[in-house]
Amino acid sequence: MRKSYYITTPIYYPSAKPHMGHAYSSIVADFFARFKRIQGFDVFFLTGTDEHGQKIQRSAQNANMDPQSFCDQISKTFFNLSKTLNLSNDDFIRTTENRHKKSVINLWKILEEKNEIYLSKYSGWYSVSDEAFYSEDEIEDVDNKKVSKASGSPVEWVEEESYFFKLSKWQKPLLKFYNENPNFILPESRKNEVISFVKSGLKDLSVSRKSFSWGIQVPSNKDHVIYVWLDALTNYISALNYPDKNDNLYKNFWPASLHLIGKDILRFHAIYWPAFLLAANIPPPKRVYGHGWILSNEQKMSKSKGNILDPLEIIKKYGVDSLRYYLIKEVSFGNDGNISEEKLENCINSDLANNFGNLCQRVISFNEKNINLKIPQSFKFNKEDLQILNNYKNNFDNLIDFVDNQKINEYVNFIQDQLFAANKYFNDQEPWKKKADQERLNTIVYVSLELIRKISILLYPIIPTTTLKVLDIFQIKEGDIEFNSIKNDLILKSDSKIKKISILFKKIEKND
Ligand code: MSP
Repeated sequence: MRKSYYITTPIYYPSAKPHMGHAYSSIVADFFARFKRIQGFDVFFLTGTDEHGQKIQRSAQNANMDPQSFCDQISKTFFNLSKTLNLSNDDFIRTTENRHKKSVINLWKILEEKNEIYLSKYSGWYSVSDEAFYSEDEIEDVDNKKVSKASGSPVEWVEEESYFFKLSKWQKPLLKFYNENPNFILPESRKNEVISFVKSGLKDLSVSRKSFSWGIQVPSNKDHVIYVWLDALTNYISALNYPDKNDNLYKNFWPASLHLIGKDILRFHAIYWPAFLLAANIPPPKRVYGHGWILSNEQKMSKSKGNILDPLEIIKKYGVDSLRYYLIKEVSFGNDGNISEEKLENCINSDLANNFGNLCQRVISFNEKNINLKIPQSFKFNKEDLQILNNYKNNFDNLIDFVDNQKINEYVNFIQDQLFAANKYFNDQEPWKKKADQERLNTIVYVSLELIRKISILLYPIIPTTTLKVLDIFQIKEGDIEFNSIKNDLILKSDSKIKKISILFKKIEKND
């Protein structure tokens, strides 16, 4: 049986239209999903929208709409974004769907049966924008208003009857779990923050609200709706048809391989989620990775600062692969990353148009002029040929290791080095001077075509549309791509025809 890999994005609040931060999480998740698929894994990739809670209810009120129609409308924009980003997700879950409600109610009932939930009264600070409870020392006064220190969002005082989950009871088991699974939380710096937070003591968590109605009702008490985070986190198993533990999706894919999220929602994923699951006797996910923020001109993007880069506008102007490549390359994964349109243009010109586009163009037009768009026959590798081809064999295990440890910048660096090496090889070998030595000319062209094939496979998880165009010239279709094949040097069949290729990335003219 094939090994399985389950990757998720956060499910997005459909409170406003999607922005670059959402696009970033989704693009990176798609990179992992596509890589693991070509590595031969059975992959399930999930994304979707998180539609209950006070934040959504208020946004709907402000728009003068009922919450369900409001969610239908905005969830659609996230669904459309998943298409525009060319995500290869296997499912798109909405928390207002019945399959999800069923799953949440089941989890709640189990927690209640196991005596993990009790009724009491909550009084404390709540941020509707973060859908989070904050203790006194987590808030501060700014301009005479109480805000969360971590997110800066306003908090309001809440006092109402509420169900509580016995989180305090799970402090020790959680610490034991982190200890036994040292890579559960990545990156390392974030893991340390979480562990010291847990060590400082966990209070029981309010898991229901009474003062509004937009949510899943507590099964035994219709006056309460289930806390939106308990509801939302459950999406990761409801998409696998939980509570049916015998369902193939659940059996194959749970526990998840990787929950990819932003650093601001780490506490929910690395503390609350495993605690709920441990309490319900369900295994926790294998890994939670908290990536950084996307900043624009060193600041968080916001309408008032006028520094928003809208993913849809950027894609319209530069194409989806340019944005995908740029975000994956530019942001040091795990840290905040500063992006700008100028840097995006530089990146397109240097990496995509010059290094990748030109390599393909030069080799194929040389082939067209000299061997009539054929894969050469009769060639003999010399030491230099083998040396450049061997880079892929020698680094094969490292590349897999980079992906499995979320070291995506190392993965991109390897590609950049290989692009540089391939262009240099073609220049240094000067095939245009080898017209009297057909065998050498053939060999240089063959090696160069093999390098294009290998680099395209490496780039496929990042820029699928463009690399599929390139691989198509060799008749390699999406379902045929095998990561393993980058180790082999004789994949291209001698004497078969290759197709011509149109310009892959247009250089952006600068006016200065
Ligand atoms: N609905 C919750 C997630 C529930 S998951 C069970 C949520 N939604 S969100 O729409 O507010 O945010 C979704 C993701 O986008 C989070 O991982 C958040 O970190 C990420 N980003 C939002 N703005 C961002 C940036 N500017 N940069 C990078 N990612 C950021 O939280």
